[in-house]
Amino acid sequence: MIKISPSILSADFANLKEEVISLEDAGADMLHIDIMDGHFVPEISFGPDIVRSMRKHTSLPFDVHLMIDKPELPISSYVDSGADMITIHPESTIHLHRTISKIKKLKVRAGVALLPATPISILEHIISEIDLVLVMTVNPGFAGQEFINNQLSKISALAEITKGREIMLSVDGGINKDTASLCYHAGATTLVSGSYIFNGDYREQIASLKSIE
Ligand code: DX5
Ligand code: ZN
Repeated sequence: MIKISPSILSADFANLKEEVISLEDAGADMLHIDIMDGHFVPEISFGPDIVRSMRKHTSLPFDVHLMIDKPELPISSYVDSGADMITIHPESTIHLHRTISKIKKLKVRAGVALLPATPISILEHIISEIDLVLVMTVNPGFAGQEFINNQLSKISALAEITKGREIMLSVDGGINKDTASLCYHAGATTLVSGSYIFNGDYREQIASLKSIE
């Protein structure tokens, strides 16, 4: 069954404790935590202290998505604050291999996220080192944007490349019941979803994404 990773970016930040508890009760498989620095993407979200404070209230794996320049700098802070997987953008560092190695050395799963215009070929010499590929189906930085349909062929191509490897193929941006189905059929194994889940009853919305055919 497809895994669901609700994106905390759409949560009520004044009630994060209740939000993470509700998402776990509602059947989330992990929590997607978007870190935004105001440089790589226009807005700022939060940093490792907030991640640490959420860590106390749930045992769900933390899927940390670093939308920041120079992600190599704060890796150990996010590991210390409770990240179980850390995904970085190759567009944000010249040291992709070094940064992935740093994440793995800290015994955390490592992922690479691809912007909509970034080709799959960037993964050629790193695919054997990573545990997760995150296909951005919106330009990152905001919740509630429209799914970019032409990313479906990227998901299908990645499904071929990751076949037989223990790599999560995750999709982030514009996921609702309809786009979830398209991604599932293209080969996605995990769906990140913010506004779709948070705009309804968490349990019903998560169940509707898990029941796609
Ligand atoms: C986009 C973030 C997403 C975002 C998804 O920049 O990486 O994780 O929260 O939100 P929705 O599901 O509303 O597109
Ligand atoms: Zn994200």
